[in-house]
Amino acid sequence: MKVVFLAPSYPPEMQQYTRGLAEVGADVYGVGDTPRSALPASLRPHLADYLEVPRILDEDDVVSRVASWLRGREVDRVLANWEVMVLTAARLRERFGLPGMSLDAVRGFRDKQLMKERVRAAGLRAPRSERVRTVAEARAAAGRIGFPLILKPIAGAGSADTHKVTDDAELERALGGLRHVDEVSCEEFISGEELTFDTVCIGGKPAFFNVAQYLPPPLIARTEEWISPAIITVRDLTQPRVAAGIALGKGVLGALGMVDGFTHMEWFRKSDGEAVFGEIGCRPGGAHLVDQMNYTCDIDLFREWARVMCWGRFEAPTVRKYNVAIVFKRAKGQGRITRIEGLRDFMAAHGEHVVEEHLLRPGTPRRNWKHTLLSDGHIMLRHPDWDQAARMAADAATTITMYAE
Ligand SMILES: Nc1ncnc2c1ncn2[C@@H]1O[C@H](COP(=O)(O)OP(=O)(O)O)[C@@H](O)[C@H]1O
Ligand SMILES: [Mg+2]
Repeated sequence: MKVVFLAPSYPPEMQQYTRGLAEVGADVYGVGDTPRSALPASLRPHLADYLEVPRILDEDDVVSRVASWLRGREVDRVLANWEVMVLTAARLRERFGLPGMSLDAVRGFRDKQLMKERVRAAGLRAPRSERVRTVAEARAAAGRIGFPLILKPIAGAGSADTHKVTDDAELERALGGLRHVDEVSCEEFISGEELTFDTVCIGGKPAFFNVAQYLPPPLIARTEEWISPAIITVRDLTQPRVAAGIALGKGVLGALGMVDGFTHMEWFRKSDGEAVFGEIGCRPGGAHLVDQMNYTCDIDLFREWARVMCWGRFEAPTVRKYNVAIVFKRAKGQGRITRIEGLRDFMAAHGEHVVEEHLLRPGTPRRNWKHTLLSDGHIMLRHPDWDQAARMAADAATTITMYAE
């Protein structure tokens, strides 16, 4: 089993998928823009070969370099788990006639307007939305959709350039801030809780699935620096609170022609219980969500995903044992972390439930919280009881304070 895996070392969790592929018996042919000499020592044993490319995001260039690199060699799969690589992987698969998701199917997972059109065409509930390319188109679409509405890039990520707009003045301000974006989605604002629906699929059916709740919704978390955002996986997926979202998620997989691999969907739960589609990618969620899912069931999805992609089998138990919460912290002040208050007391009270404590240590420069949800580090904890897990997460959010100067 020879597998071309795009971007095997960056983002860092990609190294775990590379390991997983090697562990299920694949020869992994990595393609990335990390210089060969800078590949982590822990990654090298898992790579059969590596092609260093100058610009990993230059799709045409990557496709032609990989094609000449592989000339005369047979490969069985071309895979990617990083959002910006999934179309490149699909193009390579089509070029070599390999199994896996088609370019057209992958487009449905990358283009936020196309995905909603396909979801709506299947009779599933998605926000009303229009693709707009000019200020005039945006104003006209806003007139049809009405306030409040959301303006965001069609190909966005991490809530960047995403605006909630409640009147004409805000519309003009938001449009001013979006001039550098080619294509914008203008859509109905959905008010509610925000959750995920994550899967590892075989033939479009989840061999594994997960729901997690964002606290608060990502757009709010990215607007207010003082917030410590939390994400909690839901242990009990049989409860009515998540039933509509799970049904919606399974429907969306069919509507978009999912085949094999990870999916990460976001959905809204309105106060009347209705589930509304948000967005979906054909790749795993970021910001340690896969680690959270692993801690939820005590399994290794990095390896199980690899087994699915290579051999069509998922072998890990899917019994859910814990609600796993991750809490991201943001220091007060700029510059370098100087101290962390409240951590010792928190660990004394809840340490037995903490599975990871990766807060940046004094002396480390702060991360840009607008650029990365990871912010200044995280605490991950778990508990079989939802209320207890949520209470401890709230405690970590409110009683631990980091400072920088
Ligand atoms: N139609 C909508 N209604 C309400 N909130 C939205 C809507 N679209 C986006 N948002 C908010 O903006 C965030 C980012 O939008 P999303 O489509 O998930 O893009 P990305 O995560 O790729 O940046 C969402 O998590 C949600 O909080
Ligand atoms: Mg999102």
